[in-house]
Amino acid sequence: MARTIIVSNRLPTKVQRTDDGLTFQPSEGGLATGLGSIYRADDNIWVGWPGLFVDDPAEQQHVADQLRNDSMAPVFLTETEIRDFYEGFSNSTLWPIFHYFNEYATFEEAHWEAYVAANAKFCEAVLALAGPDDTIWVHDYQLLLLPQMLRRARPQATIGFFLHIPFPSYELLRVLPWSTELLEGMLGADLIGFHTFYYMRHFLSAVSNLLGLPNQNGQIETPSRMVLVDAFPMGIDYERYATAAASEAALAHIQTFREAVRGVRMILSIDRLDYTKGIAQRLRAFEELLKRYPAWREQVSLLMLVVPSRDQVTQYQALKVEVDELVGRINAQYGTIAWTPILYFYRSLPFDQLVALYRLADVALVTPVRDGMNLVAKEYIACKADQHGVLILSERAGAAQELSDALLINPTATSKVADVLHQALTMPEEEQKSRMSSLQALVRQYDVFAWTELFMNRLAYSKIKQLTLGTD
Ligand code: F6P
Repeated sequence: MARTIIVSNRLPTKVQRTDDGLTFQPSEGGLATGLGSIYRADDNIWVGWPGLFVDDPAEQQHVADQLRNDSMAPVFLTETEIRDFYEGFSNSTLWPIFHYFNEYATFEEAHWEAYVAANAKFCEAVLALAGPDDTIWVHDYQLLLLPQMLRRARPQATIGFFLHIPFPSYELLRVLPWSTELLEGMLGADLIGFHTFYYMRHFLSAVSNLLGLPNQNGQIETPSRMVLVDAFPMGIDYERYATAAASEAALAHIQTFREAVRGVRMILSIDRLDYTKGIAQRLRAFEELLKRYPAWREQVSLLMLVVPSRDQVTQYQALKVEVDELVGRINAQYGTIAWTPILYFYRSLPFDQLVALYRLADVALVTPVRDGMNLVAKEYIACKADQHGVLILSERAGAAQELSDALLINPTATSKVADVLHQALTMPEEEQKSRMSSLQALVRQYDVFAWTELFMNRLAYSKIKQLTLGTD
């Protein structure tokens, strides 16, 4: 039977070393949580890095055996690869450039070489597993060269590629000394997907300007083949969130949380620790709310869950210090014996507690300065069984293209965000319900299963089209 081989840098399971040995936990991040619900279907398999350095062959075997039971195949990265490929080129070069933080980007030849070599390593792992009829679906910016490497080895293979982060404007992409190689790498796929129409347009203009390849309605004629490009806004497993938020376990957590905060209203903020998420800007906006609307003091708290991420990369370490300082300063200035303005947690939470927080929160404050999609916004919507709650969403998140019933803001407009927070906290229940129910209809309909089906159907179509045009 033909299978789908999903390939991403990080597996949906993260292996960690503890005093009791190796533990296996769900990974953080949109890709793992989003696709986590679908890859177990049929005989599909997910190829990727388990998230830690393992060099002992016996331990590698143990990890591989455990993961195989859950349809995963590990690619083990060496310490040098983690430093130069993952922390280096992926997260200190591509990540900042693709999110318009070019001042944070480093340009190291050694990191580029490590990126090429790591993509080749993933290629070998996929080729060892994939049969001739299998569909290969490559994900995200860490593996931009992989489609072309796979294509060279298997000219007839069906290969899809999806980018989970923004694709930047051509003017920014050309800053990269390796931009043409990266575009050519992506063009090894039959179908290239983006979250939004704008990212797709930036990609098409880069391909035209840098490679001289024009397109017709998203079809690129390369010298050897035709490649389709399209927008597929990613959804979530809506029912999983909705069911969990309505469960007895979640209701029990909500009860406990309510008793702990004693009637104080709750603004919720959840992200990986990342400078693209606008966490510092959000804290300043909350501070501004307390300054401009003193009546909210002792009446509302910001519950801020920050999930540790990429903590070996300098900019992430600096951001952690900045966030710690801001929280400390605001709490010290406004806090009272009875009330803590910001409830700050630097960790991830178990799923049943997470959905309880979503359900409890009066407002979700999602303010990235750049974000490919942002699935947190969609998760919040899915958990609102009683349709009470307001989503404030940055217009610079991909999700803003779809979620027009949220209160859309510019994340750097501090006083405007404070005003919108006040508006959300005073929004009549009727309006909350009407906005939330149209958001729910949309997020429920375009869930992760619909997203996968759409991408897979289009991929199959691209293959048929190539065969009929004789370009394959
Ligand atoms: O969605 C973007 C993304 O970078 C994924 O590729 C990744 O799995 C997730 O965020 C978390 O990042 P990391 O794997 O670096 O922890």
